[in-house]
Amino acid sequence: MKVPFNSKDREVCIIGLGYVGLTLAVVMAEAGFKVTGVERNNHINDLVNSGKAHFLEIGLDARLEQQVKNGNLKSVISIDEVESASVYIITVGTPLVNNSKTTNLEAIKLVSEGVAKRLKADDIVILRSTVKIGVSRNVVKPLLDEAGVEYKLAFCPERTLEGKALAELVSLPQVVGGLDDASTMRASDIFGFLTPTIIRVTTLETAEIIKLINNTQRDLMFAFANEIAGYCDVVGISAREVINSANIGYPRSSLALPGPVGGPCLEKDPYILSEGIKALKGNPALALLGRTVNEELPKVTIENIQLLLDKKVTSQEKLKFTIAGLAFKGRPETSDLRGTLAIPIIDEIKRILPNVEIFGYDPACSNEEISSLGITPCGNLEDVFKDSSVLLFQNNNPAFEKLNLNSLSRLMRQNGIIYDLWSQFDGTSLELSNGVRYGGHGLMYLYNK
Ligand SMILES: NC(=O)c1ccc[n+]([C@@H]2O[C@H](COP(=O)([O-])OP(=O)(O)OC[C@H]3O[C@@H](n4cnc5c(N)ncnc54)[C@H](O)[C@@H]3O)[C@@H](O)[C@H]2O)c1
Repeated sequence: MKVPFNSKDREVCIIGLGYVGLTLAVVMAEAGFKVTGVERNNHINDLVNSGKAHFLEIGLDARLEQQVKNGNLKSVISIDEVESASVYIITVGTPLVNNSKTTNLEAIKLVSEGVAKRLKADDIVILRSTVKIGVSRNVVKPLLDEAGVEYKLAFCPERTLEGKALAELVSLPQVVGGLDDASTMRASDIFGFLTPTIIRVTTLETAEIIKLINNTQRDLMFAFANEIAGYCDVVGISAREVINSANIGYPRSSLALPGPVGGPCLEKDPYILSEGIKALKGNPALALLGRTVNEELPKVTIENIQLLLDKKVTSQEKLKFTIAGLAFKGRPETSDLRGTLAIPIIDEIKRILPNVEIFGYDPACSNEEISSLGITPCGNLEDVFKDSSVLLFQNNNPAFEKLNLNSLSRLMRQNGIIYDLWSQFDGTSLELSNGVRYGGHGLMYLYNK
């Protein structure tokens, strides 16, 4: 059902039009809400108003353009320019302060102060950014209370997958935790226009922690997969075979496959969870351990490659080291470089192999985005192989699975190394040229064949 024209919550203000805010804005506009986004970044603001997204999400541009044209969605620079709204949804970023691994809440505070200045009696504020436990009640609420009016407050976490956000916003269950029952019901009614299932929980904190533990569980699941890859590498067997065989037909096994774990959520949410739990004198030991395992991958990878190079490559020339797949994940395809392990991998290459020249390729990223990582963009997939001594697959973009490594290896340097962090190819049936060898994370045994 579409939002009725006379609904008291038809006018929605979404603050922060990043990945979360913009996809939500489009889906809400499609559901019949009249959406005004507030985005302080001029470039993003202009793009949105011209119907274009500032990131890759399949189908988003066309749907955004449609809603902008219909007049259901527009973006403004400041909350002062919002004509009217009864619903305020906060979707600004909550980055980590890197060296302390604590959350920077400045944007949340600033936005809450801005909302408080225009809050009217019976408006509702929905916090959707990922926050540590207690932020809705102890940080946002006191700032909103300054308005001196009665209002509703709910925490409604975003749990969509980048690349599938538009579909998941209208299909995933939406968790809703309100300050009180009236807040929960009101937020539930709003999200009920988007998705069929609403999970009402009893407190703000319950909703906050659900988001954090969902992502921490994923991080831990991948950490275990990465640790299994390490076990298999020392035993000299295939991690892919071990994991797939363990899962087949066995209902009590749901092991993930190993690979780099990054992105704007998994790289920080276990820390945000830990920060809140530690502040309450709890012990988030496992959450932090998962991060430790997943963050070791860049170092282990480049150390392994160094050993492989020492054994085979004799050339004194500056070697070409190419990273294929730079975004934090390949599937669903994204251009998002936030939290990508390509960045610590590049740092490790510079530290451990200072004489190599680093090149990069990602079909989803522009040359400008690739250059921003301090490496040289390859023009096309052939360039990825041409003269490379090392080719590292950092993500599993769909463009890679069709590659014919047997013929492309001819373009590589003698005794080159293909190191795959995603075991995307059947290494046992490859017939590579030029002495090039294939293997990788959980597939180290292939190099010794
Ligand atoms: N990216 C995801 O897939 C995802 C998924 C679930 C949850 N989250 C969480 O949602 C939140 C937002 O994530 P994101 O990826 O959309 O972040 P983002 O950095 O892409 O977007 C945030 C936007 O808010 C804008 N902004 C910041 N302060 C502002 C202000 N005072 N006024 C107006 N605009 C302002 C920024 O310019 C930016 O465009 C974070 O807490 C994140 O952890 C993200």
